[in-house]
Amino acid sequence: MMTINSAIIGCGAIHHRHAAAIHALPETTLRAVVDTDPSRGRQWASQYGCHGYQDYREMLRDPAIDVVHICTPHYLHKSMIIAALKAGKHVFCEKPIALNTHEAAEIAQAAASARGRLAVCYQNRYNPTSQAMAEALRHSSCGKMLSIKAALTWSRSETYYTASGWRGIFSTEGGSLLINQAIHTLDLIQWLAGGVVRVKGVTDSSWLATAIETEDSAMAMLELANGARGLFYATNCHTTDSPLALEIHCERGTLQLRDNTLWRITDKGREQLASDSVPENAKSYWGSSHQLAISDFYQAIQRSGTVQYCNVKQACQSLQLVEAIYRSSQLRQWITVSG
Ligand SMILES: NC(=O)c1ccc[n+]([C@@H]2O[C@H](COP(=O)([O-])OP(=O)(O)OC[C@H]3O[C@@H](n4cnc5c(N)ncnc54)[C@H](O)[C@@H]3O)[C@@H](O)[C@H]2O)c1
Repeated sequence: MMTINSAIIGCGAIHHRHAAAIHALPETTLRAVVDTDPSRGRQWASQYGCHGYQDYREMLRDPAIDVVHICTPHYLHKSMIIAALKAGKHVFCEKPIALNTHEAAEIAQAAASARGRLAVCYQNRYNPTSQAMAEALRHSSCGKMLSIKAALTWSRSETYYTASGWRGIFSTEGGSLLINQAIHTLDLIQWLAGGVVRVKGVTDSSWLATAIETEDSAMAMLELANGARGLFYATNCHTTDSPLALEIHCERGTLQLRDNTLWRITDKGREQLASDSVPENAKSYWGSSHQLAISDFYQAIQRSGTVQYCNVKQACQSLQLVEAIYRSSQLRQWITVSG
């Protein structure tokens, strides 16, 4: 097995999950971290015993670095992904792939001719409960899917937005609740249903309206590609981060995700199918599966094996859905989700 050298760009809130995952992988070394904030970069470079850079382009010139993790604000993803691919690196980027689908198309073009692989972090697909839902649907253990209902009620304070100035601004975050937090839930819905045909939705801001120019709440109705119906509600205005509540109603029963545990409910009773554990120091609402998602990507790199990780095409699907909800809210009409 060859040794892999990694670098992380952006040493903010989420980078800890990436650093922990890299440290847990065999034959893998965290060789560098990058942050434009010099004290933050120095602190983490010294903590991890690795190189510290302020300019990611300088880091990209290190030929020993194989994989670059991008954990920066959304508006930087496109230029960083393309530069890293051009430098011959593999890239593991945090969601969303970019600010919008125009940028995502440019990335797809660069990825098509790149030597390196590109994955986007939708770690919740790897949750044992998500895998069990997909498995139950594949085997039709409850019959055909009729509808999916998802409610995501999280809490983001004004301080969350002031602490990182790029959040809450269209030009740097691309939106807020939908593109940052609820995109995981929308990704799960479209992944489980095999896509979305059209959507009608509303976005608004209420409790956070004075702190952000973007949305803090949204609801949407979805026509799913498998003929089922999707009902979606999300907000950042709750006073706590409740675990995602998701229900899949099928012809002969219901799959119910509550408190990170998946149940199958049929006329024979209630049966537990899976449960998600939360690693130490991880926030439960982020999901527990960064380690699994990152490990999957590294295995694909090492073995040139089958692509299971979320690639550019798949990462674009949830972004298209997010954009369609924004557009539907503006136009007050159903929007076709291009696929
Ligand atoms: N998968 C998940 O569950 C999850 C959870 C949280 C955040 N995220 C994603 O992770 C990304 C980062 O979010 P965050 O909450 O950690 O943000 P953050 O604001 O906490 O951290 C961003 C870091 O990037 C640094 N940075 C800014 N510009 C830079 C540049 N040009 N070069 C190098 N570093 C630079 C900042 O100084 C900061 O340290 C976003 O895409 C976000 O959506 C994903």
